Amino acid sequence: MPTITAEIRFADPKDASALASVHESAWRGAYSGIIPHRCLNGMIERRHSSWWTRAVNSGAGILVVDYGGEIVGYATMGRNRTNALAVRGEIYELYLKPAYQGVGFGRRLFNASQRLLKERGFSSVAVWALVDNAMATQFYEGMGGVAVADGEECFDGKKLRKVAYVWPKAE
Ligand SMILES: CC(C)(COP(=O)(O)OP(=O)(O)OC[C@H]1O[C@@H](n2cnc3c(N)ncnc32)[C@H](O)[C@@H]1OP(=O)(O)O)[C@@H](O)C(=O)NCCC(=O)NCCS
Repeated sequence: MPTITAEIRFADPKDASALASVHESAWRGAYSGIIPHRCLNGMIERRHSSWWTRAVNSGAGILVVDYGGEIVGYATMGRNRTNALAVRGEIYELYLKPAYQGVGFGRRLFNASQRLLKERGFSSVAVWALVDNAMATQFYEGMGGVAVADGEECFDGKKLRKVAYVWPKAE
């Protein structure tokens, strides 16, 4: 019987259409009923596979969860974009296909992202999550993140609160 293992690796340009599909299913799962429908559709349409090809080719830090050849999750990361937060790095996005949530891939992807940021000189890390996305806030709290700031983002006129978690020093 073959053993299927999950590997966290750098995204490759050939992953672009799989990344677009993970993005769509994860964002619909996480944000339907939270972000207004039209706005969410627009955010998904912009992330077609050629967007992902460009992102991968640009050398941005993109990690994927490769489960027996299927891309089931991704994380993007880089320099912290919020001056008010006293950290160097930021995980911009961390998403899994709904069918692969809750089985430990998020923890592995988060740890790998933190390690990659540390290797690149960003030893402290922030993540922003929408307050209404309870799955995300519970996950980041479970991963030891400390909520240090909040903010607001407007989606097609609907204001949503967001919270910043930080990990002052990577493990
Ligand atoms: C949030 C997400 C990345 C977490 O990944 P995951 O693989 O589902 O989480 P894991 O199985 O690795 O869980 C790790 C820990 O997080 C916590 N956790 C995860 N999901 C949780 C939930 N729904 N409720 C409570 N705690 C949760 C637990 O502490 C868990 O610890 P344990 O392993 O000791 O039980 C994933 O569910 C996902 O992609 N969700 C939709 C997209 C999203 O919201 N992304 C974040 C945007 S900011």
